[in-house]
Amino acid sequence: MSKNIAIYYGTMTGNSEALAQSTYDKVTANGWTATLHNLADAKVEDLLANAPNAIFIVSTWGDGEPPSDAEDFFADLSSASIDLSTLKHAVFGLGDSNYEQFNAFAKNLDAALVKFGSTPVEPVFSSDVSYEGDYETWEPKVLAILGA
Ligand SMILES: Cc1cc2nc3c(=O)[nH]c(=O)nc-3n(C[C@H](O)[C@H](O)[C@H](O)COP(=O)(O)O)c2cc1C
Repeated sequence: MSKNIAIYYGTMTGNSEALAQSTYDKVTANGWTATLHNLADAKVEDLLANAPNAIFIVSTWGDGEPPSDAEDFFADLSSASIDLSTLKHAVFGLGDSNYEQFNAFAKNLDAALVKFGSTPVEPVFSSDVSYEGDYETWEPKVLAILGA
């Protein structure tokens, strides 16, 4: 059976999307079954159907808020009644430590997923403005776990 992953991103200016797209391109080139979802279009009720393994790459805006496109998804997740106990996930946050609410959305998203039973395969990663190098380290580690 092929390795199966859903890759979600929440972005305002495209940084998270570019990372998500590069991971999608990489895994599909390696024979994985993968789907790529902007949280603007993702549905909470489809989380399990999309794949049993999920990567979330999300930035934080405002004063610790989700990117505006991801607000509805996060509101729906926060108020959901859903069993995610067969889901495994990892969250990579993009942020800026000059902001008081550093990577708050990534942390809140991870907490919401855990609340509904999903298993985090890694602690949520809070990257700073030099996020690209961190992602280069994080991505293979997480893919090795989720693809095992
Ligand atoms: C107006 C503004 C508000 C921001 N607010 C936060 C914040 O509250 N916490 C944080 O960690 N980063 C914050 N950031 C940093 C962004 O999350 C960071 O630039 C990220 O790389 C953007 O990724 P994206 O292009 O995927 O949206 C903010 C940036 C801007 C320009």
